[in-house]
Amino acid sequence: MVKICCIGAGYVGGPTMAVIALKCPSIEVAVVDISAARIAAWNGDELPIYEPGLDEVVRQCRGRNLFFSADVERHVSEADIVFVSVNTPTKTRGLGAGKAADLTYWESAARMIADVSKSDKIVVEKSTVPVKTAEAIEKILTHNCNAVNFQVLSNPEFLAEGTAVQDLLRPDRVLIGGRETAAGRKAVDALKDVYARWVPADRIVTTNLWSAELTKLAANAFLAQRISSVNAISALCEATGADVSEVAAAVGMDGRIGPKFLTAGVGFGGSCFQKDILNLVYICERHGLHEPAAYWKQVIEVNDYQKRRFVTRVVSSMFNTVSGKKVAVLGFAFKKDTGDSRETPAIDVCKGLLADGAAVCVYDPQVTEDQIRQDLAAVGEPMRQVGVARDAYEAAGGAHAICILTEWDEFKALDYRRIFDGMQKPAFLFDGRNVVDGGELRRIGFIVYSIGKPLDPWLRGMPAVA
Ligand code: UDX
Ligand code: UDX
Ligand code: ADP
Repeated sequence: MVKICCIGAGYVGGPTMAVIALKCPSIEVAVVDISAARIAAWNGDELPIYEPGLDEVVRQCRGRNLFFSADVERHVSEADIVFVSVNTPTKTRGLGAGKAADLTYWESAARMIADVSKSDKIVVEKSTVPVKTAEAIEKILTHNCNAVNFQVLSNPEFLAEGTAVQDLLRPDRVLIGGRETAAGRKAVDALKDVYARWVPADRIVTTNLWSAELTKLAANAFLAQRISSVNAISALCEATGADVSEVAAAVGMDGRIGPKFLTAGVGFGGSCFQKDILNLVYICERHGLHEPAAYWKQVIEVNDYQKRRFVTRVVSSMFNTVSGKKVAVLGFAFKKDTGDSRETPAIDVCKGLLADGAAVCVYDPQVTEDQIRQDLAAVGEPMRQVGVARDAYEAAGGAHAICILTEWDEFKALDYRRIFDGMQKPAFLFDGRNVVDGGELRRIGFIVYSIGKPLDPWLRGMPAVA
């Protein structure tokens, strides 16, 4: 029986291992974490992350061949394949601060693996790491433990939050990079065998280690670049009277471009895009590749511009001040169907509104009040101007304006007549995700702003640029 252990029970490790356990009943999968609270939650009734379909998968496998444990060392020492899925945030201090990936957690995991290993192991990079990390990991493993053989593989995860289970069940591709030696190829085959139990063979791609590591960074940079491209066009749409949805749909019909991932919005968020691009920029610069670095950096700059531009729209539309006005923020998660608020554009938008003196009242179906307060406190915002509501109606009650910042389905079905009646007039609605029907809301009486759409007469001539 093959034994798998995954270090890190987070957004990636948890769902990935649950699906491996589901699809491979003959493999024993242990997910371990230094956070005992996180492990307890995985073993409890309310999982630590909200992900559609995940509860069911975990319920089917937990206790059968899927185990969550805080006994990190025991499970690592018993495993044949060790996935490492620990966090790799952007460094906040020291060399490469603000850009380079912080590999502290990775390094401590690697040292621990070396310390406890008594049998040969395949060590799999699951979390995104800078190119050439495998080389460093190999050195840590072999210099700290020469009794056993280690093979390091790169097997980056491409799942997106909110659709993680579906993405894992039917991945576009599984990528496995390994050393081009006999032992390296054998390790690649062993991991391939795991995925081959449910992923068609032509979707399992094998490459050298560096290609696999770089592909992950490149894929996220390309995805983010599409969003910044369509967001840059959205600004021009507002200035010219074009409609970004029409433009994106027609552009996307070109088979060379494709229709997905072209939705304009208030900016991308999430734990990956910004971090991975910063990391890519840092690697380019370290190799003296300044033009490629500047090119990718611009993707983040346009994203920051889009968030600023949204705040400017709100403030300038409301007579150039939101001071003392209640603004309802609907949606705080970085996208729908997740409770994750890492790098969410809502943080920057709230920060901008609070800086202008607004009283912000946030409602999100999944992000907890604690998390919202923690996120806003982390960017230095005083809490006395922040409220958290239990539903959209409470958030919008008595408000001067609504900002929709996450595309939750429930925001499409709200009773906007009721909301309008309870608001100050003129009642503004700023749709940062283009989820509501602007025409219908205008008929109710709202002044509506939708990203990249022809502007209300009210908004024309107002400064749009931050
Ligand atoms: C992303 C990648 O999609 C995934 O492959 C990788 O493994 C991790 O990073 P994730 O961040 O979970 O996944 O979600 P994603 O769906 O990519 O959305 C990221 C951000 O982009 C969200 O804030 C989303 O709202 C925004 N987005 C996405 C847009 O603004 N427009 C789009 O068309 C698509
Ligand atoms: C382009 C558009 O494709 C077409 O839709 C539009 O109507 C006119 O402009 P064209 O310039 O004729 O067409 O050729 P295209 O195949 O797009 O190639 C343009 C340049 O890009 C060429 O120099 C080509 O070598 C280069 N290219 C194209 C690449 O370097 N890599 C690619 O993957 C594709
Ligand atoms: P991701 O989105 O990449 O999954 P998360 O932050 O959700 O990132 O999860 C990473 C997990 O890894 C956290 O639960 C953290 O406690 C865990 N972790 C970090 N370092 C170690 C370590 N050395 N040993 C075990 N678990 C670790």
